[in-house]
Amino acid sequence: DGEVTNDNVDRDVVIVPAATIGCGKTTIALSLRSLFGWGHVQNDNITVQKGKPRAFANACCKELEERPAMVADRNNHQKRERKQLIEDISRTVPNAHFVCLNYVHDRSNYNSIRAATRERVLSRGDNHQTIQAGSKGPDAVIEIMEGFMHRFEPVDPESSPDDGFHMVIDIDPTASSRDNLEIVINRLYAEYPKLFAGQDMPSSEDMDAAIDAAMKDYTVDIKHE
Ligand code: GTP
Repeated sequence: DGEVTNDNVDRDVVIVPAATIGCGKTTIALSLRSLFGWGHVQNDNITVQKGKPRAFANACCKELEERPAMVADRNNHQKRERKQLIEDISRTVPNAHFVCLNYVHDRSNYNSIRAATRERVLSRGDNHQTIQAGSKGPDAVIEIMEGFMHRFEPVDPESSPDDGFHMVIDIDPTASSRDNLEIVINRLYAEYPKLFAGQDMPSSEDMDAAIDAAMKDYTVDIKHE
């Protein structure tokens, strides 16, 4: 009867990570792109000098013109960023459904998160846009990572702006991207079956292959000096 319930959502789904550096945002985004053809905007590829947050939101809206879902790939680690993204996208796409990919950061778990994300980022070396671990040296990289962790504001679905999320998927930043990918797909499949447009659930092997390709193929388009 035209009523919008999650059961008939088949487009305009915006996946919004809340994360810090090295949590695996891009790996998940590339995997969703290869499995389902969903869109992906990386903040580092937005090169405007002024109005970058707005330009990022506009690029996300543009992806939705061609693809049913997309990943807004930046850290969104503060409420201010999540508010800006939800408001700016909603202005252009009023029926957008926002799904938070919540890389849970409990202060009590910070040492494990540090161990996992530093290991990934430092072994990535120069293969990154804003943080070129090889050229900056590990201390400078760790300092940048600490800044994000220090500023991280946990997602609170009960209050603004996080009550703007239609769904919050909790994932563990210390878990493998493979395990996190499966959690994300299962939750989205259960909540928005039509989003998958008749595609079968990917097999375990499909997900393995998507993650392997994402970790191998991730080359940088634009490096900032
Ligand atoms: P930033 O863009 O720097 O904020 O990072 P991100 O959150 O997008 O993380 P990304 O997906 O780029 O992953 C960081 C690095 O860890 C990359 O080199 C990935 O290939 C690697 N990586 C991602 N997931 C895993 C995993 O499950 N295991 C291992 N060993 N490495 C991973």
